[in-house]
Amino acid sequence: MGSVRGSSGWVAAAVMLWLVAGVAARADSIKDFKQWSPQQTEMYPNRTGVKLILKDPKASYTGMASPLQYTYAANGAYIKMPPGDSAGVVSTFYMASSGPKHCEFDFEFLGNKPGMPYLLHTNIFVDGVGGREQQIRLWFDPRKEAHFYNFQWNKDLLVFYIDSMPVRMFKNLENEIPGFKYPKKCAMGVYLSVWDGSSWATDGGRVKLDWASAPFVTTYDRFKLAGCVAKNGDAASIEKCQTSFAAAPGDHVQKMGQTKTRQLREVKAKYLHYNYCDDRKRYPVAPRECAYNVL
Ligand SMILES: *[C@@H]1O[C@H](CO)[C@@H](O)[C@H](O)[C@H]1NC(C)=O
Repeated sequence: MGSVRGSSGWVAAAVMLWLVAGVAARADSIKDFKQWSPQQTEMYPNRTGVKLILKDPKASYTGMASPLQYTYAANGAYIKMPPGDSAGVVSTFYMASSGPKHCEFDFEFLGNKPGMPYLLHTNIFVDGVGGREQQIRLWFDPRKEAHFYNFQWNKDLLVFYIDSMPVRMFKNLENEIPGFKYPKKCAMGVYLSVWDGSSWATDGGRVKLDWASAPFVTTYDRFKLAGCVAKNGDAASIEKCQTSFAAAPGDHVQKMGQTKTRQLREVKAKYLHYNYCDDRKRYPVAPRECAYNVL
């Protein structure tokens, strides 16, 4: 650092520091998240993580929601799935806005019997339209230790990662496909939940949740939440984010380089279980975005 450049420079630096500190302070903590089922939520004493404990058949869900919403962000957490029999139990980490034209990005982890593999189910909604399901087999046992799952979302690209490995991409194809909708106008909160997905989650709903195996404990900690804070329904705040650092954090996350493309191809070749792009019963013609996204 050089010498003081002038009073306006100081003000700018001070404001920058305040912004950085402010964002970090409120973003890295989940102590302010709203709890949907407090009796099934156990915060770490040091407030760096939380256990969602599904144990009440009458409630059959537990979850949390961030107080802040973001338009473009890099948001993730270390998550460890319930040990033992978790068939029928769905653990999630997702971002979503509200309203009829909502956006949503989902990580949904489909529980299973001991020794049976976990599937990761993902979906993307834009402007209220989803139907973009993919499922991959995880190449590790997510019950043994926590792994880092995160979204990198900017104005050009949305990527889902596991431990820095891309497992799904969704490009902004506005320039390639007329009328294409990319999530740009949504202010999205961060959510975590654990719930009874017996009707569909495990082996297409054939294997049900067994409450005798409860409690089902999913651990979420070391949250990394950083993005442009906006507010659902507040168009001006969302517009401001279009020119923020989060919208254009740099080529390394706005473009799909060779390495990440190769990694995605590998995930597709080895671990893909279901891809809406290949489902000709649902989509006699593949959605146009499928030609542009590796996975
Ligand atoms: C916070 O608590 C958790 C669980 O009790 C522990 O694993 C973690 O290391 C603690 N983190 C810090 C920063 O103290």
